[in-house]
Amino acid sequence: MHLTLRQLEVFEAVARLRSYTRASESLHLSQPAVSMQIKQFEENIGLPLFEQVGKKIFLTEAGREIFAYTADIQQKLAEAEAVIKELKGVQSGKLAISVATTASHFTTRLLAAFAEQYNGITISLDITNRESLRRQLEHNEPDLVIMGQPPEGVDVESAIFMENSLVMIAPPMHPLVTAKNIPLKHFTEEHFVVREYGSGTRGAIQRFFDVHNVPFHTGIEMSSNEAIKQAVEANLGLGIVSIHTLELEMETRRLVMLDVEDFPIIRHWHIVQRTGKRLSPVALAFKQFVLDEAQKFIRISQ
Ligand code: PGA
Repeated sequence: MHLTLRQLEVFEAVARLRSYTRASESLHLSQPAVSMQIKQFEENIGLPLFEQVGKKIFLTEAGREIFAYTADIQQKLAEAEAVIKELKGVQSGKLAISVATTASHFTTRLLAAFAEQYNGITISLDITNRESLRRQLEHNEPDLVIMGQPPEGVDVESAIFMENSLVMIAPPMHPLVTAKNIPLKHFTEEHFVVREYGSGTRGAIQRFFDVHNVPFHTGIEMSSNEAIKQAVEANLGLGIVSIHTLELEMETRRLVMLDVEDFPIIRHWHIVQRTGKRLSPVALAFKQFVLDEAQKFIRISQ
């Protein structure tokens, strides 16, 4: 017999669900592809596996015999996969991640989902601002860093994994709430509630106003996005924050986004490591997880 694992997997699904259609749905295959796998399987063993009576399909004697083995084979394969993961060190080991304050909103959800898959690992998460992330990378401290833009002056490798829009926020009673495409010049006299010096968000806002040749005045300075949102809610000024910090406030309509000319400011989230750093299997798995899955952990987008 020259059976393939794929044939076995397809056979198991058809036999368990007693239906080619449902098997093809559960395996995300087309129905002809499922029929083809079964046909090849039957040719391999030289006996039919199913018989059709009316609209129903039944296992033949050979089908029943093989079906009795498939659960065992699949169980052994899952065990083998677990052993290989263990050997590669993904099931255990430590992961040191540092993220920009602004990224912490989705990173915690991301880490929780990752930890659920790899429940033997120990994670340390440091949430800090851009300037401090730059220093950490310089000293090669964390395995991986999630930040708005790779730092200058440090040798790093980085990959973009998601868009990050900065939006202007106001309390729901603000007079500009219903205005459309408000000219940027309208905010020349505005004093914005801003993040501390050294924050990536603040740097990006400053660059944006410079490029558009509009003066940007900073009012109260705060080191957390949460505090900025509360200050804007309390009418202490307008704010500009990443849309990824806003889920709750948008849902409950405690804050609104203003429709401002040339907004949102488009940035991108990067996953960053020191050039040449040899990532552990856990860190490599996490990096891949971020690249593949991060988008799923965002509940709000522009
Ligand atoms: P921060 O992060 O504003 O919280 O420092 C965003 C960034 O890295 O750009």
